[in-house]
Amino acid sequence: MKRKLATTVFALAVGLIAQTASAASEGGGHLQHAGVNARDVAAVQRGAKWFVNYCLSCHSAQYMRYNRLVEDLGLSEDQVMNNLVFSDAKIGETMDIAMRPEQATAWLGKAPPDLSLSARSRGTDWLYTYLLTFYQDESGGWNNLMLPNASMPHVLWQLQGIQKPVYAEHGDEAVVDHLVVDTPGLQTPEEYAQTARDIATFLDYLSEPAKLQRKSIGIWVMLFLAAFALVAYALKAEYWRDVH
Ligand code: HEC
Repeated sequence: MKRKLATTVFALAVGLIAQTASAASEGGGHLQHAGVNARDVAAVQRGAKWFVNYCLSCHSAQYMRYNRLVEDLGLSEDQVMNNLVFSDAKIGETMDIAMRPEQATAWLGKAPPDLSLSARSRGTDWLYTYLLTFYQDESGGWNNLMLPNASMPHVLWQLQGIQKPVYAEHGDEAVVDHLVVDTPGLQTPEEYAQTARDIATFLDYLSEPAKLQRKSIGIWVMLFLAAFALVAYALKAEYWRDVH
């Protein structure tokens, strides 16, 4: 019995390590630290704007209703309808796309996944690095360091510009060492990094909208517990005074 347990634990541990290693080696690129702060409401707002303009045509966020943005982001219904809703969706509807999955597959070779939980499955650093590491390869098509041969085109290329790869020899193969901006975009590298961070921040919010409230409730809970501990201690001191 004990032996069996030990074997299971061992197998799990090996599995975990192997999984981490494969996740790390999936793309050629190194993760860059995004420094996302999901409580930065201004960043979430900016990210929402980028998202509806550049991503929502292909990717849905099927668990998010537009009216939730009103409450969470401190916007009015008109602001949301005028700035964030471009389809004929109503304020109470979810962030869906008009494209059918079959259309998308025919066009792109793969259906764009729903991005509601991408910040949880991939992590914000991954999303940030993904948006920073699109490049044009020898075929003239788009490629990405985090998701080699991704079927997603670089939809933000006008902002970032066009990056080209610089290769390094690794044994017999040439691997991408780093990327250089070949054609500048509308934004400077710093501005584009901010754009990528804002989008990653919005996706982080999307994956757990309650995070905004949960954290602030947490602070009140801690304060309450601290105050209650004082009261409880005073009460205990009061009771025990008569006993001694
Ligand atoms: C033209 C359609 C299109 C647009 C617009 C688009 N994407 Fe994509 N996206 C795709 C497709 C197709 C894939 C699947 C790529 C693959 O797996 O090869 C994808 C994959 C992704 C993934 C990887 C998901 C995963 O975990 O594997 C992320 C993250 C993503 N897109 C984010 C974005 C963001 C953020 C935007 C807006 C800035 C955006 N996409 C705009 C088509 C699009």
